[in-house]
Amino acid sequence: MRSYLKHLKRSAAVGAVALAAFSLQPGSATAAPEPTPSGGSHTKVVGGTKAEQGEYPFMVRLSMGCGGALYAKDIVLTAAHCVDGSGPNTDITATAGVVDLEDSKAITAKSTEVLQAPGYNGKGKDWALIKLDKEIDLPTLKIAEDDKLNNGDFEIAGWGADKEGGDQQRYLLKATVPFVDDDACKKAYGDQLTPGDEICAGKLDTGGVDTCQGDSGGPMFRKDDSGAWLQVGIVSWGEGCARPGKPGVYSEVSTFAKDIQKAAGDLGGS
Ligand code: ARG
Repeated sequence: MRSYLKHLKRSAAVGAVALAAFSLQPGSATAAPEPTPSGGSHTKVVGGTKAEQGEYPFMVRLSMGCGGALYAKDIVLTAAHCVDGSGPNTDITATAGVVDLEDSKAITAKSTEVLQAPGYNGKGKDWALIKLDKEIDLPTLKIAEDDKLNNGDFEIAGWGADKEGGDQQRYLLKATVPFVDDDACKKAYGDQLTPGDEICAGKLDTGGVDTCQGDSGGPMFRKDDSGAWLQVGIVSWGEGCARPGKPGVYSEVSTFAKDIQKAAGDLGGS
């Protein structure tokens, strides 16, 4: 069933097919009109608030309507379902260094090559690397190499929809979501979940806080023991957004750390 739905969303990228509940469909590339000047008091990402300029300097917006994080100065880590396979690719624009996508100080770079997770078939393995045509001089985000910190509260951020069916955002939104263990997440999603490949997060009882369409590929992260940001997840999918009992599902970065490091080496990242 998931693979059928994934086909649906591929065609949705071209046509106007209704979003499936389990859609991994990235958000449309166009940002929403300017929100009310007061901004911050509105609850949005779903249930989040505006990030401060420079707060998450590794955050990247990708032109196909996804998020990403700077893995190296010239490599973005994103979701496999945000890209169309591996190989030379000059179609993607990465925007970084700003919370406001229309800020004239935005740094942009073009893709030169994409590396989609080997064996990606729509279930699990939802990671990809995008090589950029130049280095972006901003802090990169370290990835978790083991599962020690795959617990606690996580930060999420993105320019995706602020509610199910909502608009893409001009300003970066952020929120905090608690870890949900595999057993609880399996209760929500059954065999659709690939526990070794995926880590879940969200407020199971109440819902209300989550990533949503257009946040895909962006990082889920927390502080490590030294106080540095550490990426533990990649926004992947969920049933709707922020529904009670339906947590967000993220690629489990620690599972793929070795593969990601090797792939980045193959891309010649700096
Ligand atoms: N697949 C979506 C995207 O492409 C992300 C969905 C995340 N959903 C959730 N409920 N956390 O942007």
